[in-house]
Amino acid sequence: MNHSELEATAQAMVAKGKGILAADESSGTIKKRFDSIKLESTEEHRRTYREMLFTAPGAADYISGVIFYDETLRQKTRTGVAFADYLKRLGVVPGIKVDAGTKPLAGAAGEVVTEGLDGLRDRLKEYYSLGARFAKWRAVIDIADGIPSSYCIHVNAHALARYAALCQEANIVPIVEPEVLMDGAHTIERCEVVTDAVLAEVFAQLNLHRVYLEGMVLKPNMVISGIKCPKRAGAEQVAEATVRCLKRHVPAAVPGIAFLSGGQGPEEATEHLNLMNGMSGSPWRLTFSYGRALQAPALAAWKGQESLFVAGQKAFAKRAKLNGLATSGRYHASMEAQAA
Ligand code: 13P
Repeated sequence: MNHSELEATAQAMVAKGKGILAADESSGTIKKRFDSIKLESTEEHRRTYREMLFTAPGAADYISGVIFYDETLRQKTRTGVAFADYLKRLGVVPGIKVDAGTKPLAGAAGEVVTEGLDGLRDRLKEYYSLGARFAKWRAVIDIADGIPSSYCIHVNAHALARYAALCQEANIVPIVEPEVLMDGAHTIERCEVVTDAVLAEVFAQLNLHRVYLEGMVLKPNMVISGIKCPKRAGAEQVAEATVRCLKRHVPAAVPGIAFLSGGQGPEEATEHLNLMNGMSGSPWRLTFSYGRALQAPALAAWKGQESLFVAGQKAFAKRAKLNGLATSGRYHASMEAQAA
């Protein structure tokens, strides 16, 4: 493990004014996204879509890293440059999703555990040789009646820590992503209690597995009401609860926290990030690692049509810029009206 290489990569991922694009949708997930614009999920369509995002003029000013899916890390631009090399030249760090998705957790109805540890050491070596300098592993914790169980939280935190230790051994910075889902009808208070328990266990396991905190990035959910909650908390409450919860559990040695969007709308996700960065006293960089909140307007503008490729790029560059501004509390809702 090379501490200084890990630290330098982690610092680059959370560089001031920038954040991470999560473009690591698995084959199943990207199919769902393409279904929304009635586009068939062929390898060439996936390649074109990713090229549209990665080559969007101006976007790299606000993007520090991109998370690829395995297929994308092996793909090239139209002009034949590997996507990872193309981004590296722009100063954007290439990363790779390495988990193999979730499976039902034995003996725990309604709960899941993330798989993918077998063979991971060898896969990480190959990913490093293909240019990846950070990785992502997503654990999923659902909130409903009687769940999550401490069993589910424990096994998922344990897997995250084993993954993180293996990444660091390969000089790859682990993004540690314990996602508490916002799909339910739960209140923000319930989300805070669960996120508290999850982060406590995640950091206990990271310490047990000797993970070098300066060489990792945390990717948590925000503390937020469930999407079906009849009385959803406002933006200020989300920002305050999230920072309060993180301060209780995330050591200052962790260089940065890059939030997932998790089903928040694009503007909502930007507003929440902006409010958190307007509050004083956070020991870490607070930035974004959004998937849907960065991509949804671009996907809708593109519609899978070559003639709308540039329109898609503009929509993406706009969200990248507004989120970039939100990392320093300089975003304002009135900016949404400006042309893409
Ligand atoms: P969302 O921002 O769409 O939640 O995706 C982020 C991500 O990488 C989930 O693993």
